[in-house]
Amino acid sequence: MVLLKKSEDVYKWLDTQQKKNAIIGFIPTMGALHNGHISLIEASKIAMNISVCSIFINPTQFNDPKDFEKYPVTIEKDIEFLENNGCDVLFLPSIKEIYPNGFDDKINFEIGYLETILEGKYRPGHFRGVCMVVNRLLEIVNPDCLYLGQKDYQQCKIINKLIELTGKKNKISIKICPTLREPDGLAMSSRNIRLNKSDRIKAGALYQSLNYIKNNLATTDIPLLKQKANNILADAGFKVDYLEIADTNSLTPVNKWNGNQKLVALAAAHMNEVRLIDNILLN
Ligand code: PAJ
Repeated sequence: MVLLKKSEDVYKWLDTQQKKNAIIGFIPTMGALHNGHISLIEASKIAMNISVCSIFINPTQFNDPKDFEKYPVTIEKDIEFLENNGCDVLFLPSIKEIYPNGFDDKINFEIGYLETILEGKYRPGHFRGVCMVVNRLLEIVNPDCLYLGQKDYQQCKIINKLIELTGKKNKISIKICPTLREPDGLAMSSRNIRLNKSDRIKAGALYQSLNYIKNNLATTDIPLLKQKANNILADAGFKVDYLEIADTNSLTPVNKWNGNQKLVALAAAHMNEVRLIDNILLN
């Protein structure tokens, strides 16, 4: 695996490969890698000639400074993990490399409604930061395909919109990969290692609550479904930010189902200091 820290080196290295007609897959991450991340690399390796992973804990997407400070850093392990899984290039930039002009760049992406709801509502400025970093990374890596996890459902929608807004839609395709889970259903996440033993056991309730919605959608009204799912979370000790049933495309909340509309259930909840998110497609 080639490890590059300078954007110029990444740009040059990949440009040479692209001139030889190599197709490039890109997997942006914030490190503390787990098998969910690796599944994106595996998907890229099947379809692409070169798979590039980036690790950059992006300060502009953390609305809570404490969350940024506590974000797990396991860089040595990550490098070994990537090497063992056949990643071709790791881009490991410094903050200065990504934000040469500081954080106050005036670029503002007009994402609209999508960034005002769910995660956007509870983490003000979060998606602006995601857009800033992803846009910058895409300019440097210039991939053919961007690999994202369904685990961050709203993020996938926002990045899709970003690519449209920046005129990259023709060049870059987006591949959304399924959420990898632990045996009890908990979605793999870099934040899971911050859960203590007993909280980790209780955290399985997040997936159970979403599954409850899925299994009872055909027979129960949405408000009651949400209430019961909220109870599952509360009983496990979760403090819920949101639990919503929404249209899979627009993410607008749905309170009455017509039996056909494609729906997704999304939730964010705190298990003590650890905030977890998850979602599942309902039909
Ligand atoms: P991070 O949380 O490190 O996630 C990197 C990618 O891995 C994202 O596309 C995410 O959806 C995917 N992923 C995380 N957990 C997964 C799981 N259990 N199964 C499958 N895929 C999973 O998302 C970010 O970083 C950042 O916001 C980023 C896009 C890198 C911008 O900073």
